[in-house]
Amino acid sequence: MPKAPETILDSSCTSSARAVEVGAAMESASDSSIRVPEVQLSSAAAGSRPMPVIGLGTAADPLDAAAMKAAVLEAIKLGYRHFDTASMYGSEEPLGEVLAEALRLGLVGSRAELFVTSKLWSSDAHADRVVPALRQSLSNLKLDYLDLYLIHWPISCKPGTYAYPVDEADLMPMDFEAVWEAMEECQRLGLTKSIGVSNFSCKKLGNILNFAKIPPTVNQVEMNPLWQQKKLKEFCKANNVIITAFSPLGARGTNWGTNAVMVNESLKEIAEARGKSIAQVCLRWLYEQGVTFVVKSFNKER
Ligand SMILES: NC(=O)c1ccc[n+]([C@@H]2O[C@H](COP(=O)([O-])OP(=O)(O)OC[C@H]3O[C@@H](n4cnc5c(N)ncnc54)[C@H](OP(=O)(O)O)[C@@H]3O)[C@@H](O)[C@H]2O)c1
Repeated sequence: MPKAPETILDSSCTSSARAVEVGAAMESASDSSIRVPEVQLSSAAAGSRPMPVIGLGTAADPLDAAAMKAAVLEAIKLGYRHFDTASMYGSEEPLGEVLAEALRLGLVGSRAELFVTSKLWSSDAHADRVVPALRQSLSNLKLDYLDLYLIHWPISCKPGTYAYPVDEADLMPMDFEAVWEAMEECQRLGLTKSIGVSNFSCKKLGNILNFAKIPPTVNQVEMNPLWQQKKLKEFCKANNVIITAFSPLGARGTNWGTNAVMVNESLKEIAEARGKSIAQVCLRWLYEQGVTFVVKSFNKER
C-alpha cells in the first residue's frame, strides 16, 4: 500500500507556489511519498508542464560527467523532475544520457514528467543563431523539446566563441528585440514550451516586456539569504515573471561563488535552533519568498 503523500516543504507557504502532487511522476520513483510544489508559468505553451519549485543544477568546473549522472539518477529516485543545464556548462550531453537511462529504467514514466531548462549562450545571442543553437541543445540532450529556454546573460559576444569568462574584446551589445523575437520563434516552433531570461535587471527585463509578444516567463538570477533581490522580486511579481534562484547556497566551493552563505553565523544559529542544516534553511527561505530555485550537489549525502 503506498504511503500517504507528504510534501518536502510544508503547507505554510504563502508564495505563488502551489502544492501539487506530482502523482504520476512520483509513482515510478523509488520513494512515492514525496510531493514537490509546482508553479504554472504564465506564458508557457498550452499543455505545458508546471515547473517544480526545486530543480537540480548541473554546473561544475571542471564537470565530472560520471558524478553528475550518478547525482541525477539519485535525485530522480528522490523525486526530482526539474533539471537545469546550459550549452555553456557542457552538461547537456551527459544530462540527456542519464535522463534517457532513467526513462529506460522506468524511474520516470515519460518525458512529460520531466522539466528541463537550458540556456542560450552569449555568442549565439544573435537573431539568426538562436533557433540553430536551441536545435543543437536539443540534439545534445536527445530531447524533442525543452520545457524552458533562457537567454543566459543580457549580453552578446562574437559568434563562434565559447570561452568563459568572455574575453572583453568579444563582447557586443545585444539586439534585444531581434533576439527576443527569435526566442519567441523557438516557442512557436514547439522547440520549447516556454521562454525566459537570466541575469536580467529590472530595467533590462522591463525593456523586453515592452515589446514582447510572448512575455518572458522566468528570470533566473542569483538569490540567497545574503543576496535577497528585493527590488527585482517585487518587479517580477508585479509583471508575472517567476524568479528562479541560482547559487542558493552561494555556490560554495566553486570558482564563481564564495563560502559566505554556508559559514554565515545568523544562518548557523537558525539552523541549530531548528535542527536543520544551513542548506535546508536557505532553500526554505527561498521557498517562502515565493521563488523557485535550482541547487547543485553531486554528493549523494546532501
Ligand atoms: N543562470 C546562471 O547564470 C547561473 C549561474 C550559476 C549557476 N546556475 C545554475 O544554478 C545551479 C546551482 O547554483 P550553483 O551550482 O552556482 O551553486 P549552489 O547550488 O549554491 O552551490 C553548489 C555548491 O554547494 C555545494 N553543496 C551543495 N549542497 C551542500 C550542502 N548541503 N552542504 C555543503 N555544501 C553543499 C556543492 O558541492 P557538492 O556538489 O560537493 O555537494 C557545490 O559546490 C547551477 O548548478 C546551475 O545549474 C545558473
